[in-house]
Amino acid sequence: MADLTTDLLGLRLRNPVLPAAGPPGRDGAALLACAAGGAGGLVSKTISTRAAVPPIPNMADIGGNDMVNTELWSELPPEQWLETEYALARTADLPLIVSLGYTADEIAELAPRVAPFADAVELSTHYIGDDPEPMTGAIRAAKAVLKVPVLVKLSPHGRDMGEAARAAADAGADGIVAINSFGPVLSIDIETAMPRLGGPNGYGWISGPALKPLAVRCVRDIARAVPLPVIGVGGIGRGTDAVEMLMVGATAVGVCTAAILRGPATFGKIAAELSTWLDEHGYASVGDIVGKALTKAWPGGPLPAPVVNNEACNACGICVTACVYGAIHVVDGRIALDGEKCTRCGLCVTRCRLAAIDWPPLQVASAG
Ligand SMILES: Cc1cc2nc3c(=O)[nH]c(=O)nc-3n(C[C@H](O)[C@H](O)[C@H](O)COP(=O)(O)O)c2cc1C
Repeated sequence: MADLTTDLLGLRLRNPVLPAAGPPGRDGAALLACAAGGAGGLVSKTISTRAAVPPIPNMADIGGNDMVNTELWSELPPEQWLETEYALARTADLPLIVSLGYTADEIAELAPRVAPFADAVELSTHYIGDDPEPMTGAIRAAKAVLKVPVLVKLSPHGRDMGEAARAAADAGADGIVAINSFGPVLSIDIETAMPRLGGPNGYGWISGPALKPLAVRCVRDIARAVPLPVIGVGGIGRGTDAVEMLMVGATAVGVCTAAILRGPATFGKIAAELSTWLDEHGYASVGDIVGKALTKAWPGGPLPAPVVNNEACNACGICVTACVYGAIHVVDGRIALDGEKCTRCGLCVTRCRLAAIDWPPLQVASAG
């Protein structure tokens, strides 16, 4: 069995699958459920200097395992966390990362108070905009009072993630968490013509599988920009999602939406799937795949056409339908690919469910 244990800034995780800050860690009891569900460590819901009062309703399933939400930070007052919830979470005996928001002043007030409970602190930058100064100010405020590692969580809104990560590193951050949910977005219930979320305009933030390619891009940008550990968050719901995130340089992954929709056992399930994938692919430990995709890119210039393996093919025809260039046909019950018409778009290779169409062996280049 592959070794899933992971070192994150000196914290020993039994596996790299963590709750991302949000409802899965909404209080001490919920964090214990994450631990029982197999999480490798714990991340608590963001708290700030006062309890949040979010619009209602504030979470909606929009299909495809995606969600929109307009939750804010914790609706529990910080005093309750300090008196009860963190101590309860610590009884799980897993590393606890405490999420704090938002401004330097708020962090300066909260950080010393959570210090007795936190193995590391994660700073949310969700509501502080694109200017790096509020983020760097928050990091400096945390570093001034904390001995434990300070991670900063980046939102993806239009930012150059590498630049944001470099600013965070220069301000003293020990690690990066990326990404937060993306928005603002809008989802309408067509039966009522109402926004699915409350608040003045029904806007929210999208999370779940739709976010994953954005998150993977951001994590790779960050991992290439700074030598800090990254917790990759966004659309992780299966072991193979975790593999992808680790390959672009994440040390661990965070899961929020999948754990909301499918419950806290999701953490252990993703970890088990990750373990199986590593075993099946001959990797001895999770660290063996971290960063494997950091520098890979397709070669420039012309490519040979994909090749059909008719032994593996069942002639289902989804490649024929999806070939917008009319280059794939069924001839005598077998798939035939016309290399003249084929533009090398690659869709058929990714569309085939049986891996029966593939590129011939290619020379892999380095990403720019
Ligand atoms: C309902 C909800 C509440 C969230 N609350 C927080 C929060 O308090 N602090 C934070 O940093 N991120 C929060 N997030 C963002 C998640 O931690 C995560 O970054 C994002 O949802 C993407 O991951 P996912 O696709 O696994 O959900 C929240 C997400 C959701 C869906």
